[in-house]
Amino acid sequence: MKPPLADLHGRTHRSLRISIVDKCDLRCTYCMPEDQHFLKREELMTREEVVAIARLFVERYGIEKIRLTGGEPLLRPDVVDIVRDVCALGVSVGLTTNAISLHKHVDGLREAGSRSLNVSLDTFDAERFKRIARRDSYAQVWSNIRLAHERGMRIKLNMVVMRGVNDDEILRFVELTRDHDMHVRFIEFMPFAGNHWGRDRVYTYAEMLGHIGSVHSFEKLNDAPNSTAKAYRVPGWQGTFAVISTVTEPFCGSCDRLRITAEGKMRNCLFAREETDLLSALRRGEDIAPLIEANVLAKHAMLGGLPQFRPEKQEEVLHDLSARPMVSIGG
Ligand code: 5AD
Ligand code: SF4
Repeated sequence: MKPPLADLHGRTHRSLRISIVDKCDLRCTYCMPEDQHFLKREELMTREEVVAIARLFVERYGIEKIRLTGGEPLLRPDVVDIVRDVCALGVSVGLTTNAISLHKHVDGLREAGSRSLNVSLDTFDAERFKRIARRDSYAQVWSNIRLAHERGMRIKLNMVVMRGVNDDEILRFVELTRDHDMHVRFIEFMPFAGNHWGRDRVYTYAEMLGHIGSVHSFEKLNDAPNSTAKAYRVPGWQGTFAVISTVTEPFCGSCDRLRITAEGKMRNCLFAREETDLLSALRRGEDIAPLIEANVLAKHAMLGGLPQFRPEKQEEVLHDLSARPMVSIGG
């Protein structure tokens, strides 16, 4: 057994998200500020650097799952090569994508060894998609999701539920699981730099279940020990749905996730305000293992040390947020 990466709160870490590019070809309002600046090419990790860092996490620390994220990971010309190299480390490799260019890559990704995709989809309405994502790509995205599904990829659809924006489509997403073996995940709207978050815009976990339950009866499914999502199914339906309740019922106690940004900075939490620059140390030829261990040890018990997301704490939360928007943290 490899020594796990443990923190001071008794959690061990088995899952790593690596952002491989900070750009995106959508500009979702909840994720990317209008004035977002992007990294220069030489600031991004190269394919070799991504793989070297991934290898250390796998071989030295027993990381079992790696998810490649962005921005939009499919914007990287070498994405399929990176997937192949990381799969060769013997871990399961998934991607988080907006699916815009998935038709060009789905076969390559499968051949490289990836079988699972998390796809962002917040609406089935083309006009609304354009408002949320600031690009007119609904038809392309939905057709690519179906294509990837037909080609045998496991699909998780991520819907960020925002009050007054798309909460009227929750049932539509649940009903997709009647005939589609897809896993829909309703995500509470989370605060990140520049995303106009407000506690009143969060459509809560309790509201979601109440709303769904008023129309369909559903059963609870077992969740994997470190799952962030609470999973359900309408009995007899092919797919399942789940809620990620970060805001109203955080699950930090069982979090086993770590993150690396596209410029090689390590974050121990989505809401972290401190980062550890692994890439600069790697480029100087230094041993980055002590940096990784120190970063994990410093992980806060909850929410990166932010106050809880209660309405009366809203000002504090917004004041204490890290300077990073979600697009550059990596989903
Ligand atoms: N709140 C909740 N989820 C978010 N994501 C991005 N921004 C937010 C936010 N503010 C998730 C989306 C997307 C992934 C990249 O990150 O589900 O699928
Ligand atoms: Fe791009 Fe995904 Fe962020 Fe939308 S949510 S801007 S698709 S990274």
